[in-house]
Amino acid sequence: MSLLCVCVCVCVCVCVCVCVCVCVCVCVCVCVCVCVCVCVCVCVCVCVCVCVSADIISTVEFNHSGELLATGDRGGRVVIFQQEVENKSVPEYRSEYNVYSTFQSHEPEFDYLKSLEIEEKINKIRWLPQKNASQFLLSTNDKTIKLWKISERDKRPEGYNLKEEDGRYINPGNVTSLRVPVFRPMDLMVEASPRRVFSNAHTYHINSISVNSDHETYLSADDLRVNLWNLEINDRSFNIVDIKPANMEDLTEIITAAEFHPHHCHTLVYSSSKGSIRLCDMRASALCDQHTKLFEEPEDPSNRSFFSEIISSISDVKFSHSGRYLMTRDYLTVKIWDLNMETRPIETYQVHEYLRNKMCSLYENDCLFDKFECCWNGNDSVVMTGSYNNFFRMFDRAQRRDATLEASREHNLPLQLLKPRRVCTGGGGGGGCSKRKKDEISVDSLDFNKKILHTAWHPNDNIIAVATINNLYIFQDKVSDPDSADDLSASDMMCTI
Ligand SMILES: *[C@@H]1O[C@H](CO)[C@@H](O)[C@H](O)[C@H]1NC(C)=O
Ligand SMILES: *[C@@H]1O[C@H](CO)[C@@H](O)[C@H](O)[C@H]1NC(C)=O
Ligand SMILES: *[C@@H]1O[C@H](CO)[C@@H](O)[C@H](O)[C@H]1NC(C)=O
Ligand SMILES: *[C@@H]1O[C@H](CO)[C@@H](O)[C@H](O)[C@H]1NC(C)=O
Ligand SMILES: *[C@@H]1O[C@H](CO)[C@@H](O)[C@H](O)[C@H]1NC(C)=O
Ligand SMILES: *[C@@H]1O[C@H](CO)[C@@H](O)[C@H](O)[C@H]1NC(C)=O
Repeated sequence: MSLLCVCVCVCVCVCVCVCVCVCVCVCVCVCVCVCVCVCVCVCVCVCVCVCVSADIISTVEFNHSGELLATGDRGGRVVIFQQEVENKSVPEYRSEYNVYSTFQSHEPEFDYLKSLEIEEKINKIRWLPQKNASQFLLSTNDKTIKLWKISERDKRPEGYNLKEEDGRYINPGNVTSLRVPVFRPMDLMVEASPRRVFSNAHTYHINSISVNSDHETYLSADDLRVNLWNLEINDRSFNIVDIKPANMEDLTEIITAAEFHPHHCHTLVYSSSKGSIRLCDMRASALCDQHTKLFEEPEDPSNRSFFSEIISSISDVKFSHSGRYLMTRDYLTVKIWDLNMETRPIETYQVHEYLRNKMCSLYENDCLFDKFECCWNGNDSVVMTGSYNNFFRMFDRAQRRDATLEASREHNLPLQLLKPRRVCTGGGGGGGCSKRKKDEISVDSLDFNKKILHTAWHPNDNIIAVATINNLYIFQDKVSDPDSADDLSASDMMCTI
């Protein structure tokens, strides 16, 4: 695991000096003294080190058929995993993913005009639908989006006329016969090459990118603006949403996430820190500052508190695969909205309601600002999102069932079933913990440093990828009982440390 550490030390020293003097008086007026001093110091130092792991996973994304899984990390690296070819004789191993390619996508940069460091952390990865033998993906950090081509090479041309096999050039005068170069097989090599760099279009931090269903354009959103790009053109983009007020002091909300509709290339949504979702139709006007639809739930005045606005900020918005619904994640809930009803969500799921009484401490340790993501399963019947203590939650929409599961190292034995966990609130009373039950944990013993912010669901199968701080877990459902989404077994676990 690579760590970058910054240490601050505070030292306190205590010194004790002992002096011994010898004086010799020669006559009455001359006195010569020789002193020897010995000092003993005792120092106590207290050092505080803050280590930032470069391996912290910052995004997870399956490609459109689920055979490739890309992760991005804080160190600017992209790791791509590939699903192993299905082996009929060992069906339980069908979802094994192995490392396919690793490359450095972004490097730390410095913005000289603003004296700001630009982190290399990958904020989002999006795959492009495959058109030919190569795969393409977009990766972004706070400011710069890059288009990468991932291609395989298993053949090498041999037998050039003017070049030796080791690359040395042959004197043309020495060439006496012509050869026809041929392709010879070689070990499979996966190459990632940067194709285009889309930069200088965002003043604020990019939080989302989304490829349009026309497969030609994509959007990128930062705190105040949404830009539209053509995948082939990297020197200009069109601003389609701009919520920056003329006077920055009037700023009341920022854009937190944005996404294109999966089938209608003119429709996009963006969510805000005030808990509203705006649907824009690019056919209406080139600049979509005027939304077409506004999805917002009226706030219950009895629930108002100092933290209301922070916890109602939407951290992720996702269209369902069908395009009919929207899912949003705020701090405490997951909400499902019908595109045809703006007044309130059709479903609301509590992710960790037991934290409602802990807002003060969550605010103090900054957890209240964590940006949890959410995802749909392949046919939009189950949704998943993360929580603390390496727990993640699944909600079955039709059967109204939910489960709390844990991604932990104890599950790295293959084919072990994940057991549902339960969080109980404090000692005694109704929701209290019964001491005997092993799968129960008290709210007070939850570890808030272990959080699951990024999850992804395979587009066709019940295979999920769950990123804890620096581990990636891949779970699949039990083979014998494929339709219970919450009977997931830990078929495979990969550690990136
Ligand atoms: C499938 O698994 C069996 C048993 O482990 C092994 O013998 C066989 O080589 C595998 N086949 C492939 C195509 O990997
Ligand atoms: C996903 O990746 C696999 C493996 O390279 C590829 O065969 C497949 O076509 C990709 N799917 C899409 C929809 O791009
Ligand atoms: C694959 O598609 C990309 C983008 O559409 C194109 O630039 C590239 O030349 C294509 N490669 C081949 C081998 O056709
Ligand atoms: C050309 O051929 C001669 C004789 O075979 C050899 O000595 C010389 O090094 C060759 N020159 C090059 C550039 O390969
Ligand atoms: C208000 O708080 C209660 C619990 O304290 C919760 O059940 C209810 O859903 C909240 N209402 C809204 C609109 O968030
Ligand atoms: C969704 O898929 C699961 C299995 O993957 C299946 O059990 C369920 O019936 C499907 N739901 C719908 C609405 O098709």
